[in-house]
Amino acid sequence: MRTTLTALQAMRNKGEKIAMLTCYDSSFAALLEANGADVLLVGDSLGMVLQGRETTLPVTLNDMAYHTACVASGSGQAFIITDMPFGTFQVSPRETFVHAAQLMEAGAQMVKIEGGSAMVETIRFLTERGIPVCGHLGLTPQSVHQLGGYRVQGKGDEAAQRLLRDALALQEAGAGMLVLEAVPAALAAEVTAALTIPSIGIGAGGACSGQVLVLHDMLGIYPGKKARFVKNYMQGAASIADAISRYVAEVKSGEFPSQEHSF
Ligand code: KIV
Ligand code: NA
Repeated sequence: MRTTLTALQAMRNKGEKIAMLTCYDSSFAALLEANGADVLLVGDSLGMVLQGRETTLPVTLNDMAYHTACVASGSGQAFIITDMPFGTFQVSPRETFVHAAQLMEAGAQMVKIEGGSAMVETIRFLTERGIPVCGHLGLTPQSVHQLGGYRVQGKGDEAAQRLLRDALALQEAGAGMLVLEAVPAALAAEVTAALTIPSIGIGAGGACSGQVLVLHDMLGIYPGKKARFVKNYMQGAASIADAISRYVAEVKSGEFPSQEHSF
């Protein structure tokens, strides 16, 4: 049987780290879950690592549904989260529900939505109607043009307080999980301690309830710019399976991320 959100919440409550990786196809879905990944994130990062686009902005709902179906058919145990792509969740809660339903029909067990307090109403609308939602705060790549580049977020007192308030507001609205991307480790620790739902870090230090990396980054096959928090697990690995199981082991033990991969 597939991992449930309840099981992931229980892991967080016991202090067992959640190992997540992005995944876009059936062969990797099978390999990732066979090597211990708890959660597969069908990320809109596919726009960059599969489609070769400069940002995640051009990714469509159909792209996300297609790759979700591929991941779902290649796996049988891992929990599947799918990103709602740019433009499909900002207009209204009702419209968002229709789009999220398409991703759930394709095989997602939860959808992920970027953004803070502006998303509260939509997250409440979805979660009250049976669609689990994962929030995403800090560096939200769909807002790259607004943010002025891919840079660390939540620096300074005011920004940190806003991020903490947003995290609590998303949880209160019904979010069942929260991704924190590129935020200072100390802030992510504070947010994680304030929340009862699991936090998943990427460039957010070791205190989060779990970790995620983009698959193509951790395998060292993405030709674009590499973020500081990325670790190449193919270095010294005998195979892709070996690299993945080492990532999972290092997340579970807390060895990853070290300070070198944090802010
Ligand atoms: O699209 C993606 O891969 C993501 C993760 C980096 C969190 O949103
Ligand atoms: Na994403």
